[in-house]
Amino acid sequence: MCPDDGRRDMAKVLLIGSGGREHALGWKLSQSEQVTEVHYAPGNGGTAGGKGRNIPIDGSKKENFDAIAAWIQKEEIGLTVVGPEAPLAEGIVDFLHEKGIHDVFGPIQAAARLEEDKFFSFDIMQELGIPQAEGIKCHNINEAITAIKEQSSKDGVVIKARGLTGGKGVKVCDSAQEAIDFLEEHKSRFGHEILISERMFGQEFSVFGICDGEDVLTLPVAFQDHKPVFDGDKGPNTGGMGAYGPAPIAPPEVIEEVHRRVMEPIVKAFAQRGTPYCGFLYAGMMMTETGPRVIEFNVRFGDPECQPAMMLLEDDLYDLLKKATAGTLKGHALRCRDGHACCVVLASKGYPGAVTKGLKIQGIEEADALDGVKVFHAGTCLESTELLTSGGRVLGVTSTGEGDFRSVQQQAYKAVACIDTEGGFHFRRDIGAKAHTL
Ligand code: AMP
Ligand code: GLY
Repeated sequence: MCPDDGRRDMAKVLLIGSGGREHALGWKLSQSEQVTEVHYAPGNGGTAGGKGRNIPIDGSKKENFDAIAAWIQKEEIGLTVVGPEAPLAEGIVDFLHEKGIHDVFGPIQAAARLEEDKFFSFDIMQELGIPQAEGIKCHNINEAITAIKEQSSKDGVVIKARGLTGGKGVKVCDSAQEAIDFLEEHKSRFGHEILISERMFGQEFSVFGICDGEDVLTLPVAFQDHKPVFDGDKGPNTGGMGAYGPAPIAPPEVIEEVHRRVMEPIVKAFAQRGTPYCGFLYAGMMMTETGPRVIEFNVRFGDPECQPAMMLLEDDLYDLLKKATAGTLKGHALRCRDGHACCVVLASKGYPGAVTKGLKIQGIEEADALDGVKVFHAGTCLESTELLTSGGRVLGVTSTGEGDFRSVQQQAYKAVACIDTEGGFHFRRDIGAKAHTL
C-alpha cells in the first residue's frame, strides 16, 4: 500500500462485450473518480468518447482470449468486467486467472454452469430447497414425451433445452399435444437433453446481486423486463424490449425474501463446493400464488435491466466490483436513488427475425439533452462520423427521475420521439404498463 501516492488508486477498466448492458456498465464505471479509462472489447457506436475507448478485439470470442490477456498486461488494466454469458461459459475468467490476472469480475466456468446448464441449475435449486417449477430431466425425445404427459396440467407445460441457445431454448406450451408437436418439429433446436417443467403463472421480475465468492449484496430494487416483441406481451420472445424499476410486484420484503432464500444459498453453496462465485448473479423470478419462485438464473447482468439499474445505483460501481474481486464485500450494502428509471428499446424492424443493417440514426443528441435521459447504444456502429444501425436491438432509451413513475415513463417516450432511422424503429409502447396495474 502506498497511501501518499494517489495514482495507486487510479485504474483502467476493461469491459468485455458490445451490447446495451456493457454501455450502461461502462457509463457507470466511468463516473468513478478512480477510473481513468474504460476500454470496451469491442464496444459499439456509443461507447467510445470521454473515458471510453473501443479496442479492436471481440473479447466475447474464445479465439480472442489470448489477445485479451495480452491487452490487460500491456495496458496494465486494473479491473476486467465480463458482460455477456458466452465467454463466461467458455471459461474466460479461468483462462485469465491462469495467466496470473486476478482482478476479473465474472464467475469461473464451474460457476457459470448455473446459466449454461439447466439440469445443473435445476439440481442445485432442488438440493438447496430454492422454490422453482417442478421438473423432469430427460435424455432423449421419448423420455421427454413421456415426461410431458406426466408434467403437463390443464394449464400447459414448458420445454427447456439443457444448454445455452441464445434465448431460443424455451417453449411455453398451452397443452401436452402442443408441446409434443413442437418438440418433434424442432428436435435439432432442443437436442437430446431437455428439461420438462411445470408451467407457472404470475408476473415476472428480475433480482440482481454482486457476489464476491462468499457473500452477495442484493440490489434493493427489482426490475421488470418485457421479452415478447409486441405490446401486451404478444409475439415471439426477444432479448428484452424494455425494462423499468422499481417493479411494484417486488416490494422490499419480497426482495429480502429472494435474497435470503435464493441469492445467499446459491453463493454459499458455490463457496462450499470449492468453486466460489464472483460476479453478477441474476435471478429471473415469477410471483406465483405460492410466492416468488425462480424461473432461471443468469450469471451476468440483465439486458435491458442493466440500463435503468445503472441509472438508479447510487454507489461507486468500480469500488464495489474491485471489492468483489478481493472478496471484501461483507458488511456493505447496495443503495439506490429514490425515484424510478425506465428503458425503452429501439429495435430494427423485423427483430427478432432478420433485419436490415447500416441505416443512419438521427436525433440521439436531442434525446440525450432531455432532463434525466441517457441513450445507451447496443446495435450501433460508427462509420467515419456517421452513426449506423448494426443489429437487432439498437438503442436503450433510458430516463430517470424522482417524480412518480408515470412522469419518468413519459420522459422516456418523449426521448424516443426524438430519434429516428430510415423506415423507423420498432419499439413497444407499453414499457412499464404493469406498474400501473398494482
Ligand atoms: P428462461 O429462458 O428460462 O428465462 O425462459 C424464457 C421465458 O419463458 C421466461 O421469461 C418466462 O416467460 C417463460 N418461462 C420459463 N419457464 C417457465 C415456467 N416454468 N412457467 C412459465 N413460464 C416460464
Ligand atoms: N433481460 C433478459 C436477459 O438479460 O436475459
